[in-house]
Order: sequence, then structure tokens, then C-alpha cells
Amino acid sequence: MQFHEQVPLAPYTTLGVGGPARWFAEAGSEDDVRQGLEFARERRLPVFVLGGGSNLLVADAGFSGLVLRVALRGVEQEGDVLHAAAGEDWDGLVARAVAANLAGLECLSGIPGTVGGTPVQNVGAYGQEVANTVADVRAIETSTGKPATFSSQECGFSYRRSRFNGPDAGKYILTNVSYKLRSGGSPELKYAELHRSMAEFTDPTLQQVRDTVRRIRQSKGMLLVQGDPDCHSAGSFFKNPVVDETVAARVAGKAAETSPSMPRYPDGDGRIKLSAAWLIEQAGIAKGFTMGHAGISSRHTLALINRGGATTAEIIALRDYIRAKVETRFGVPLEQEPVSLG
Ligand code: EPU
Repeated sequence: MQFHEQVPLAPYTTLGVGGPARWFAEAGSEDDVRQGLEFARERRLPVFVLGGGSNLLVADAGFSGLVLRVALRGVEQEGDVLHAAAGEDWDGLVARAVAANLAGLECLSGIPGTVGGTPVQNVGAYGQEVANTVADVRAIETSTGKPATFSSQECGFSYRRSRFNGPDAGKYILTNVSYKLRSGGSPELKYAELHRSMAEFTDPTLQQVRDTVRRIRQSKGMLLVQGDPDCHSAGSFFKNPVVDETVAARVAGKAAETSPSMPRYPDGDGRIKLSAAWLIEQAGIAKGFTMGHAGISSRHTLALINRGGATTAEIIALRDYIRAKVETRFGVPLEQEPVSLG
């Protein structure tokens, strides 16, 4: 395995901003991962694990440690379970599941990034979350290099959260994820917008759901398409805030004049998930808003974009501007969704 110095990280991210990694290496095997950890330990360097770079904001100054790009490959099917190496392209895995008539991932079509990132932030869209299908996760413990396996239960999943970005952040490097799917199962159409878009199909196939999800994502600039300026983003830049009924009612009251029907989704335990995109718009910031080389996608208010030549400082200035506006108008803090590095 080769260790490279001062490698620009921006090209490894979908947002395309940020400085270099002091050290950079690609791990094609579990042994490589261990070798990378050893290299970092000898030099007392922090390690950052890079997957598809689709949910990542790299600082302009870069990262002074070792960036380990997980490039482990391989997919195996065992009945209705797919075992996938962490470095596999996520959408390629979804395509494979759909082609094999395995249900459970079809609504997660068109999401950029790699397999290894999906349990970390419990990737979810259009009514599915990987928490529903992950059977187990294999990983290497960063401090010891020893293998570890976690059942779905042990992953501690909740909305955009798991032990791997929660209490155990940085403790493990994921190497393999197994998904338990439903052989010959019918597609899931729980998400209202997807349901509406599928109305023309009487008995939709997994492939039709996949195609429709990709079309919806593309219409929102959430599909990586060459030459589409709206897709130079890290997907949703903020989480949808989950609040209690009192806060939800207060927010609805404040926006009653401009938007009488506030989008709200029950999130269990009487909590309500609000739409961050809607909050931003109600705070007076519209799609297509620009600040220097940074901006908001012209098709989805939650996607901050690099309009070309942006710096991380510009993205952060825009982030803070949006947060302040929403906080002032509604008293609701917006939490950043992508991971910050450096
Ligand atoms: N909305 C707006 N303006 C917009 C977009 C949406 O007001 O520009 C409001 C509308 O009321 C709309 C509602 O928000 O009905 C929901 O919009 P959308 O279906 O686009 O979903 P979202 O809540 O904005 C979440 C995820 C996305 C995921 C979609 C679809 C988060 C932070 N984001 O977005 O995930 O693709 O649902 O399930 O939970 C990501 O995490 O990076 C991501 C793209």
C-alpha cells in the first residue's frame, strides 16, 4: 500500500471544496486497513476514513492526519442476504438487489457514496432506511486492529444516527455490511411523494420504483449528473429537526400567515419531525439564493452547493447565515448533516 503526501481532497468529495490530506492511502483489503492504522499509530496521526465523499465538508486548511480511503470491493449473494464490501458503490449495490428481485433497498436508489457509509449515518430516503435491512456490520477496531461484528440491534440506529457516528465515532472502520432483503418481495411505497409518482403503475416492480426514485432525485438535483451545477452538494446540508408538540405548534403559529399547512411528520414518542427546507424558506431564504461562490440549489432548499470555485469558508458562511435566520425566526436550531473534517 502506498502512502501519498499532500493529496487534495476536494476531488474526492461531491461538494468539491477543501484542502489537502497530509497523508493519503487507499485500502483495498483488511490488511491494508491495518497497515494504515499502524502507519498512523507510529506517527501519532489522527485517521479519517473516506468513503464516497458525498456527505463530507473538508476544511480549507485540509487535514493534518492520514486519510484512509476504503476501497474494499466485492458483493456476494447468499439467499436473500447481500454481503457487500464497504468500498462498493452504493447505487451499484441497489441496482444489483433490484436485478436479483430482492426488495428492501429500492427506495434508496440514486444516493451517492459507498456501502460503508450507509450504516454510519443510517442512510434513508423515500420511506426506507438501511436500519430496516442491515443484518450485520463487520469492522476493524481502530485502536487494536481487531475484527468486530455488530448485529443490527447493536448498531444503535435512529434517524441519521448509529453508534458509528454517535458514541463510537472514530472507534471502528467498517469493512463489510450485510443486508437482509425480501426475495420476490413487493416494493415499499410509504413515502407520499413516491406513492403519488407511482400512481400510473398498478403492480409496480422494484425496477419501476428504482427508476422513479432516481427521476425524483434528479428533479431535485440530488442525483449526480455530469454538468448539473445543482448536484455539487453534500445532499441535505441540515437534518430535519425533531421537536416536541409545543415547539411544533409555536413554529406553525409563527408561519400561519405565509404557509398555513406546515409539513410535519410523526417521529414516535409524540415527537414531530419538521422540514428543514420549509423552515429555511419560511425564514426568507429561497432556492437559488447565492452568497459568493456558494449557494442554495435551485431545486431543493436543503442542498448547499458549490457554484464553482467555492471555498469551505464560503459554504460555512452560508451555513451560518441560514442557521441564524431560522433560529431568529423560529427559535429552532438546525443541525449540520454532513461530516466536517479538519
Ligand atoms: N420542502 C420545501 N422546500 C424544498 C424541498 C422540500 O419546503 O425545497 C418541504 C416540502 O414540504 C416537502 C418536504 O419539505 O414536502 C419534504 O421534502 P423532501 O421529500 O424533498 O424531503 P426532505 O425532508 O427535504 C429528506 C432527506 C433526504 C431524502 C428525502 C426523501 C433529511 C435531512 N433529508 O429530505 O436525504 O432524500 O427526505 O426521503 O432527512 C440526505 O440526507 O442527504 C438526503 C438527501
